[in-house]
Amino acid sequence: MTYPVGLRLEGKKVVVLGGGQVAQRRLPALIAAGADVLLVSPDATPSVEAMATGGEIRWERRPYRDGDLADAWYALVTTSDPDANARASAEAEAHRVWCVRSDDAGAATAWTPATGRSDGVTVAVLTGRDPRRSAAVRDAVVEGLHTGTLAAPRHRDRAPGVALVGGGPGDPDLITVRGRRLLAEADVVIADRLGPRDLLDELPPHVEVIDAAKIPYGRYMAQEAINNALIEHAKAGKAVVRLKGGDPFVFGRGTEEVEALAAAGLTCTVVPGVTSAISVPGAVGIPVTHRGVAHEFTVVSGHVAPDDERSLTNWPALAQTRGTLVVLMGVERAAAIADALIAHGRPADTPAAAIQEGTTAAQRRVDAPLSELAAVIAAEDIRPPAVIVIGDVVKRSGR
Ligand SMILES: C[S@@+](CC[C@H](N)C(=O)[O-])C[C@H]1O[C@@H](n2cnc3c(N)ncnc32)[C@H](O)[C@@H]1O
Repeated sequence: MTYPVGLRLEGKKVVVLGGGQVAQRRLPALIAAGADVLLVSPDATPSVEAMATGGEIRWERRPYRDGDLADAWYALVTTSDPDANARASAEAEAHRVWCVRSDDAGAATAWTPATGRSDGVTVAVLTGRDPRRSAAVRDAVVEGLHTGTLAAPRHRDRAPGVALVGGGPGDPDLITVRGRRLLAEADVVIADRLGPRDLLDELPPHVEVIDAAKIPYGRYMAQEAINNALIEHAKAGKAVVRLKGGDPFVFGRGTEEVEALAAAGLTCTVVPGVTSAISVPGAVGIPVTHRGVAHEFTVVSGHVAPDDERSLTNWPALAQTRGTLVVLMGVERAAAIADALIAHGRPADTPAAAIQEGTTAAQRRVDAPLSELAAVIAAEDIRPPAVIVIGDVVKRSGR
């Protein structure tokens, strides 16, 4: 049996004998812990040598000699010379220095656990003398913490405030690791209609899930009502996640929420998300750029028609480019958008596609030349949410 402990090695001398692969694997954690590492070895791997050249460790290029461990707090004995290892571990014993031996775990006074880290949690696993099993358990725990499938909410040091999390286009696997973890730690989740709604089912029963579309907004605008709900819950000391579709800053009104929170004196963490503008075309095999075909892509909101006085888009200029156009929120105005582009120079036969509910089980795609896209969208009953892609890249999707 071993007795697990967390060594606080900052500024403490740690002696590493041998500069091979074992030392290479162990040194980064010792350096990260702030240990004063002395490597004693006639040679070292290029990576270990780089640590010495970079000033992260001290290196004495020579074999082990008696006395090296006298003032160490901890020792790692990894030379390829069994006799030197035995002498060093005897010296460690004599000086009461905890000593790890790579060649003979049975003779060591300390064993190195399989370690991993995730968001401030250190995972250390020891399984007797089965390092592969230790590593497997470590991987499973770290993976669970990363993804949030292993819920480990913080109880101390939990930062008050709101996390604005980009949830990706809909497939629950396309949220970021950080987003998923924050979701697992939330007390309150205010979610949009778009995004990975399946993840909401996984939340524990105590989590309050609020549908942003259903927040009563009385005399307020809907966005103000959402801002107020975020502020109210955060001020009540709850861990609040504002879960948005795609990326919060791509037509997501994320900035308005960040500003409202700042005005209320609340902090806000923004977690980027996988935007539908790139991932939804990608899900049906359409690359937004392709060498020799499109050297740029432009993401445009189609929520107002090109001739609408509120439009901020220079459609004539876009019509003149050769690059890919990705239009979000444009299904209802597809005819007006296509007309404006063709009128200002985009060829009528430019390949185009519309993808509805990309990355979800309900994903659908229709294709048509630009001049016929709106008619095909109507005939095939393509509805929001959908992304429209216009450009020669549409032909590069293996269709
Ligand atoms: C208000 S915008 C939000 C965009 C989001 N912030 C993003 O980065 O993907 C909503 C539009 O995104 C597009 N969209 C989002 N998710 C989609 C999906 N899974 N499939 C197709 N279009 C999607 C549609 O054009 C939809 O009307």
